[in-house]
Amino acid sequence: MGGLARLEYRGYDSAGVAVLNNGKLETEKRAGKLANLRSALENRPRSADGIGIGHTRWATHGAPNDVNAHPHVDNHNRVAVIHNGIIENFASLRLELEERGCKFLSETDTEVASHLLSEELKDRGDGDLAAAMRGICHRLEGAFTLVAMSVDDPELVVAARRNSPLVVGRGKGENFLASDVAAFIAHTRDAIELGQDQVVELRPDSVTVTDYDGTPVPVREYHVDWDASAAEKGGYDYFMLKEIAEQPRAVADTLLGRVAVDGTLTLDEMRLAPEELRDINKIVIIACGTSYHAGLIAKYAIEHWCRIPCEVEVASEFRYRDPILDRQTMVIAISQSGESMDTLMAVRYAREQRARVLAICNVNGSTIPRESDGVLYTHAGPEVGVAATKTFLTQLIACYLVGLYLAQVRNLKFGDEVNAVIEQLSGMPEQVERVLSMMEPMRDLARSLSGANTVLFLGRHVGYPVAMEGALKLKELAYMHAEAFAAGELKHGSIALIEEGVPVVVVVPSREGRSVLHDKIVSNIQEIRARGARTIVIAEEGDEKVRPYADTLIEIPAVPTLLQPIVATVPMQVFASELALAKGNDVDQPRNLAKSVTVE
Ligand code: AGP
Repeated sequence: MGGLARLEYRGYDSAGVAVLNNGKLETEKRAGKLANLRSALENRPRSADGIGIGHTRWATHGAPNDVNAHPHVDNHNRVAVIHNGIIENFASLRLELEERGCKFLSETDTEVASHLLSEELKDRGDGDLAAAMRGICHRLEGAFTLVAMSVDDPELVVAARRNSPLVVGRGKGENFLASDVAAFIAHTRDAIELGQDQVVELRPDSVTVTDYDGTPVPVREYHVDWDASAAEKGGYDYFMLKEIAEQPRAVADTLLGRVAVDGTLTLDEMRLAPEELRDINKIVIIACGTSYHAGLIAKYAIEHWCRIPCEVEVASEFRYRDPILDRQTMVIAISQSGESMDTLMAVRYAREQRARVLAICNVNGSTIPRESDGVLYTHAGPEVGVAATKTFLTQLIACYLVGLYLAQVRNLKFGDEVNAVIEQLSGMPEQVERVLSMMEPMRDLARSLSGANTVLFLGRHVGYPVAMEGALKLKELAYMHAEAFAAGELKHGSIALIEEGVPVVVVVPSREGRSVLHDKIVSNIQEIRARGARTIVIAEEGDEKVRPYADTLIEIPAVPTLLQPIVATVPMQVFASELALAKGNDVDQPRNLAKSVTVE
């Protein structure tokens, strides 16, 4: 239950456990959050033979009710299975199993795995659960991590992995399996990465990994560099609030060791040789959600510093439009979790087209960096709140580092500007600290807007993706209609949405070297105000030009234009979380969502 609690952020529609008790399989499953399962278990005797499996679900097939919750057992109550991912050929397998006499209780795709495993064990007649698991994996299509236990072998848990994450924790006289190290971090920090299409047999004293044909495979062991306290609330009411507050440290850690005193950048894990980087003539960034917004900001920086054309695309659309890629294309896949299926599929597609793929990722050993040519880890530490906050800021830092490194390697004429930015980056942790200390007016404002029906967001240049991020945070946490527009585009139709009292959050560009943009947005603010909008203006300290047109002015520290998203995003996070809390929402586990989206 402790492990499930640490993983609940990954899915919280329902939860369940199975244990062996005196050689008998016992399961308990409940719709809703883990607390419901916990209450149900309080009324049951607490004895078990030593092994158990548990699951928190993000529903794909079938409503989030007790019956559809995992684990699923076979008709003889001898095998229990939990599953992440989607078994795409489940309908035909279900028909076949029904013809063999299996009775299905749930609407899930997962239940086919428990019946298949049971039938395979019956056909084999040797009680070898691992062999049976390997047998059924050849028949399953789609993405899956399956974990199973059987009454025939009370010391064994078997798991199979294809596409969905799975990691082993090695303890002393006890071993663990989970989608994320957070589940077992209180017991051990020694982990083993599992690759695609592998089956693991876990006993208290041994871990055996094979491929689907039963051939043993080498594994990579690693030590997790954070401890259990990093995945706890540390005095905050919500993980999200703690993670917002941790941003100065997260930014500093992501820069640490990468910038030498003379400004030279060292990004060794990129594993892309300088000659290869000099050869690149196009960059394509693929990502989802908040990570996509980081990519949109990166485009401005990379194109400006490196003069390499850069496209940014949501990963779920990318491979379906026949994109043009070759060896001279560098694909940057941005993913906090390293497990988003849309991004993973786009990475695989890009590698098939021979592009070089660089992952920007926060989770060591996750699938996307494993399958990329190189990786740049963000060192934000574990992010438990479903809404991405500190990982977004560190993704921005990583993107800036990549852009600056490319500019250095390619020896571009912007040398002076690049060196200046590298120096300014080092000051970003302090700037984030400052902006956090300036957020009281934003909190007051957010609380006063909890009754609003819609909030619009405007920005220009790098402020536009910041506005998009603000709108996403508000939708995700406060369940309100929120939409972002490029400020100059508003007059082409969407300005019709403005009516008396509609709150509009405007990100005002930095005044440094971009005064044209600054002046233009001041005009845009006047246009919407003239039509009744309530203007909430996020602008640099001391920006007197904009002050007369702001119903509420939220000040942020003045930083160079391209780095402004680092400080301008913080008020967006505070606004959305505070407004959501005022509405009584759970900001760590917003409805319908999950932290890692491991289905397409
Ligand atoms: C952000 O608040 C979201 N929870 C979501 O958009 C997230 O950024 C997206 O699902 C991508 O996840 P990833 O970075 O782990 O790939």
